[in-house]
Amino acid sequence: VLEKFQNEIEQVKTLDDLNRLKGKYIGRKGQLNDLFKEITQLSPDEKKDLGQKINHLKGLIDSRLQEKLKELTQKLKPSSKVDISLPGKKSWVGSLHPIQLTCHQILTIFHSLGFRIESGPEIESEYYNFEALNFPPDHPARDAQDSFFLDEEYLLRTHTSPAQIRIMQKLQPPFKVVVPGKCFRRDAMDASHSPMFHQVEGLVVAESISMGDLKGTIEIFARRFFGSDRQLRFRPSFFPFTEPSAEVDISCGLCQGKGCRSCGQTGWLEIMGAGLVHPKVFENAGYDPHQVRGFAFGMGIDRAALLKFDIPDIRWLFENDMSFIEQFQAIQ
Ligand code: PHE
Repeated sequence: VLEKFQNEIEQVKTLDDLNRLKGKYIGRKGQLNDLFKEITQLSPDEKKDLGQKINHLKGLIDSRLQEKLKELTQKLKPSSKVDISLPGKKSWVGSLHPIQLTCHQILTIFHSLGFRIESGPEIESEYYNFEALNFPPDHPARDAQDSFFLDEEYLLRTHTSPAQIRIMQKLQPPFKVVVPGKCFRRDAMDASHSPMFHQVEGLVVAESISMGDLKGTIEIFARRFFGSDRQLRFRPSFFPFTEPSAEVDISCGLCQGKGCRSCGQTGWLEIMGAGLVHPKVFENAGYDPHQVRGFAFGMGIDRAALLKFDIPDIRWLFENDMSFIEQFQAIQ
């Protein structure tokens, strides 16, 4: 009997199995009780002897059953008991990428100044990207070395300015629009260049617009975006699609114009190109250059993010290292 029992208890895996086994051997109708019944006919001496043996056997079986019970309940413990002292799992809350965050902040300011938000295609024709914007046929930017051409005619836009033409073809003046989006140039990646980057184009067209309107608008924007302590500087420059043209610098926040490493010792940081819309561009868009005037600007969003948040390397914006990205959660 003991041998059979020992074989069977090895097979037991659940508490139910164990109870069944217990009933089979030492339960009221179990095998040991049957044995007790069988010995009642024997002589008193034999009864005593066998009775003791059966009781010993019962003891062995019982203690083995107890052992097995302990074993099984120990195994069950982890899943049947909740440890309320363990710290809970925190769920990850998503947030805006610093580029998106910067873009939203820029657009919000222009929106509050009455600008509407438009978009343009990332794949542009050579016509919209260069020709309509008055780039001469031999302009170096048109070279395949500088731009990502897809075929003879189409390329990845090198700036958001082609959207100027598309907007003018679509809207009737007066209007004020900003166009955010991705741009692409064949630049090697380094601390301040990325072959893919972001710009916001601005375009205002009305009956009479002057350089003063451009300066006023950019100044309001820059004070709100970078802080009222920063100075602005307009430098004469050249773009084929604006006349006059300017580059806009902001005073370096780290050295307050004295010159430091982050501004290349000049005290100034360039934030955008701008100017009054060239008459040729109005003509190409189907407007009468004698009837309308306008100003336009193009600003690097990634660059604006670097300047505003003191990020030393543009590549940080594209590596998506969580320990960097997470820091922008607090300012959403
Ligand atoms: N498209 C120019 C650039 O990418 C910026 C610009 C936009 C200049 C609008 C003037 C007017 O450098």
